Amino acid sequence: MTEDNKITQHFRVGIITASDRCAAGKREDRSGALIRERMDAVGGEVIAVQVLPDDRDILAEAMRSMADTLKADLILTTGGTGLSPRDVTPEATLDIAERMVPGISETMRAQSLRFTQHAMLTRGVSCIRGRTLIINLPGNPKAVGECLDIFLPVLEHALEVIRDQARHESH
Ligand code: MTE
Repeated sequence: MTEDNKITQHFRVGIITASDRCAAGKREDRSGALIRERMDAVGGEVIAVQVLPDDRDILAEAMRSMADTLKADLILTTGGTGLSPRDVTPEATLDIAERMVPGISETMRAQSLRFTQHAMLTRGVSCIRGRTLIINLPGNPKAVGECLDIFLPVLEHALEVIRDQARHESH
């Protein structure tokens, strides 16, 4: 992680790993751990970490509660964005989304094509619920690292704008 992406304002992060195998304890959750490391490195306060099965309702409820009750500024999910029938993270995210932020996922997908053609196979989405930014990342740790490298340079500005908007709404 470069110092350049260090975020000056305080922000709260929720991390969700969507994986049947990790949730059943059959595979180590390396991607969730990597997200946590990267958030620590940029100065985010990790307030919740959950490893959940690929279940649409369970995932939607976890995101809803991190946004509404825990007041996360950012939720990063990893996994469940591909084409297999159990990959339902985008659908769960859409279930609780209020406004879409398509540019984040479009850019991660487009720029990831230089690493692998398979980048076009992630269906991840990005959205806002309340004042929480929610971003789906693919499942494998390499992909997580690559996508965070693409997105982190704009995180500070994104958080600022969402907070500003929340301030205006409350007046
Ligand atoms: N994006 C990046 N940057 N690097 C990768 O290695 N892997 C792809 C894609 N996105 C990849 C990537 C692959 S192989 C798949 S199947 C999809 O993400 C979906 O992954 P998921 O089902 O684990 O979420």
